[in-house]
Formats: sequence, structure tokens, C-alpha cells
Amino acid sequence: MSAGLADVIAAETVLSDVDGLAGRLVIRGYALVELAGHWRFEAVAHLLLEGAFDNLPEVDAFTLLLGAARLSVFRSLDPSLASLPLYDAVRAQLARLPDGDDLDTAVLLMAAPAVVLPAMLRLQAGKAAIAPTPSDSHAADMLAMLGEGVADPARALALETYLVTVIDHGLNASTFAARVVSSTEAGLMSAVLAAMGALKGPLHGGAPGPVLDMLDAVGTPANAEPWIAAELAAGRRLMGFGHRIYRVRDPRADALKAALVRLTASLGHDGASDRSRLELASAVETAALSALATHKPDRPLATNVEFYTALLLEAVGFPRDAFTSVFATGRVAGWLAHAREQRLRGKLIRPKSLYVGPVPAEAA
Ligand code: ACO
Repeated sequence: MSAGLADVIAAETVLSDVDGLAGRLVIRGYALVELAGHWRFEAVAHLLLEGAFDNLPEVDAFTLLLGAARLSVFRSLDPSLASLPLYDAVRAQLARLPDGDDLDTAVLLMAAPAVVLPAMLRLQAGKAAIAPTPSDSHAADMLAMLGEGVADPARALALETYLVTVIDHGLNASTFAARVVSSTEAGLMSAVLAAMGALKGPLHGGAPGPVLDMLDAVGTPANAEPWIAAELAAGRRLMGFGHRIYRVRDPRADALKAALVRLTASLGHDGASDRSRLELASAVETAALSALATHKPDRPLATNVEFYTALLLEAVGFPRDAFTSVFATGRVAGWLAHAREQRLRGKLIRPKSLYVGPVPAEAA
């Protein structure tokens, strides 16, 4: 048996491929660097779901469908769910959506986190939820629904780059969970809820909030080295470093760092605090990589996607308890594409376990 199913191939897919040694991510035939920062979220989501993204009339039609779906999700909002912790509120609202397996259900589920997250954030702050604008891009509309004037084009572009960067990533824990549920012929909503459960943990999508906690605790670039040394000596993990598949730097970290540098430069004076955050993060990253190389010489531990996710989402205007839900807003497209692929081509996923418990007396 392989602990954590490491290196086990458990599905065949045309959707994405992670090359952990070369540090390369391919999304349905395109390298991530060709997509992130260049193509709309709608186009890449359409690529995942339907296999094509350069057919502009089709992508435009899909964009309209997604916009209409945002409005439909907004109309079904249950404000009472805002009493739950944020991620749980988003998940509970998604549980109210239909559990079908057709394209309309997929589009509704894809639209949902972008609407529910800003609405729940506002309701939790005692403000009214803002209705979506179906003709806007998904990323710009999500920011507009946050309100407070954060929906400027530079922030919308940074958010869109993020949503594309995390849209799919092989058979990660949440995608696997979605495929397992879909393999039982449950509906797409059930698959998405299972994936959201898996994404929540700090070893998967829950790391970016703790990355900012780490930067706050480090405080100054000069404190990076001693702080990290103390953490490792105490046996704690550094959030935003290490990966099951990558043995080199996660290519998504580079895509997000580039987007962040572009965003903070375009914000001018307003970006000063984000630029100083970035300087601190660079010092922490350098110190962490050097300390991890000494701490685990046999296990390459490099920067993963969550490190720059934390900085980018903070600069875009999200509070840290929203980060995992923003991750779900992008990754939901991958979950849905995998769930549909599993349903069309897969078989019930039902592995075996190795029994290591006590045996009945008569069998001993
Ligand atoms: N800091 C310190 N030590 C680490 C780290 C880290 N970030 N990551 C791994 N290690 C150590 C482990 O303690 C372990 O040491 P041991 O063999 O002495 O016990 C060794 O490296 C191997 O670690 P595993 O947990 O076996 O590696 P695995 O592939 O299962 O873990 C994971 C990958 C969960 C991402 C891990 O690197 C980690 O916990 N990182 C921090 C959390 C994080 O950044 N999560 C986001 C991941 S990206 C994503 O999912 C979107």
C-alpha cells in the first residue's frame, strides 16, 4: 500500500497534468503560463468543460450563461446562513442548489461561490448583499459584489489571473473527492460539496490565511531567519512550502507573484503597504527555502501556490477568512469538469484497505 496514495494513478483525464519534476502544469493542452494573465476565466472554464476556448462565439455564449447563473444564485440566497463561519456559510448555500448532472447545473454551481462569498461577507458585516451584473466578467463582478469600490480593473485582472491559476491541478485531494462522489452517480452539487470539505483543511486550501499569520508574526525582514529557525525547531510546518507532487518551485507561485508585482505597481501610492508586504514575503521566502534545505536535505521543499495566493488576495481586497472560499471560486470549474469526466468515462471508485486490526478468535 502507498501511504496517502502517493504516486498511485487513480484516474485517466484529459483535463490537466502536473509535472512535479519539471515544475510544469498543463491545462487541457495549454501550459499554465499561456493561460494565466492572458485569458478570461470564462474562456479557461469553457476549455475545461467543453474542450475548446478559442471559439469566441461559444465562449461569449458561455459567459452570458455564467452571468445569468450568478443572478439566479443571488435570488436564491438565504441570509440566515450568514450566521455560520464564512466557508461553512458558502458551502451551506451551495447545498441548496440542484443536484443534477447536466450543463445547466454545472454552470449554476460554477457561478455560485463568486456570488455567495461576497454576499455572506457583506451580510456578516451587517450590510446588504449587492446583486450581480450578469454582463460583467466573472472576476470583475465578484469584486463589484464585495462593494467598497474595490472593483477597479487592475484588481479585477489580478483576481482573474488567480482564478485561472488555480482552476485545475490534477488529482489533488479535493478533485479526487469530487471524482469519488461523482463515480457513485450522485449529482454535481454532491461532488462539489465533497470537494469543498477536502479543500478546507490547512494541508490543502486552508493554508493562505496561516501564511499571512506567519508574515504578521515575523514582522520584519530581519526577524525572518530566527523566526523560521524557531518554528522548525519546534517541529511546526511552514505554511506555503512543500507539495506532494512538485519537487521544484510550484509554477503557480511564479504566475501569482508576477500578477502581484503588476498589481502593486499599478496601484501607485495605494499599493505602498502591499509593496512592503511583498518585501517582507520575499525575505521570508528566501529564509524559509534556505532553512528547509538544511532541515530536510533529502526532501526538496519549495514555495507552493498558497504563499503568493495569500499576498495577492489580500492586495485584491479579501479578508483572510475568505481566502479558501476564493480558492473554491476558481477550482470549482476544475471540480465540475472532473466530476463530469468521471461520470462519462469512469467507473465506481472503490479501493481496498489493508486490515491491520484484531482478528476474531476462531480465525487466529
Ligand atoms: N514545513 C516544514 N516541514 C515540511 C513541510 C513544511 N511546509 N512540508 C513537508 N515537511 C516535512 C514533513 O514534516 C515531513 O518530514 P518527516 O518525514 O520528518 O515527517 C517531510 O517534509 C515530508 O512531508 P509529508 O507530509 O510526507 O509530505 P506530503 O507530500 O504529504 O505533504 C504538504 C505535502 C501537505 C503540502 C506539506 O508540504 C505541508 O504540510 N505544507 C504546508 C501546508 C501547505 O502549504 N499547504 C498547501 C499545499 S498547496 C495546495 O494544496 C493547494
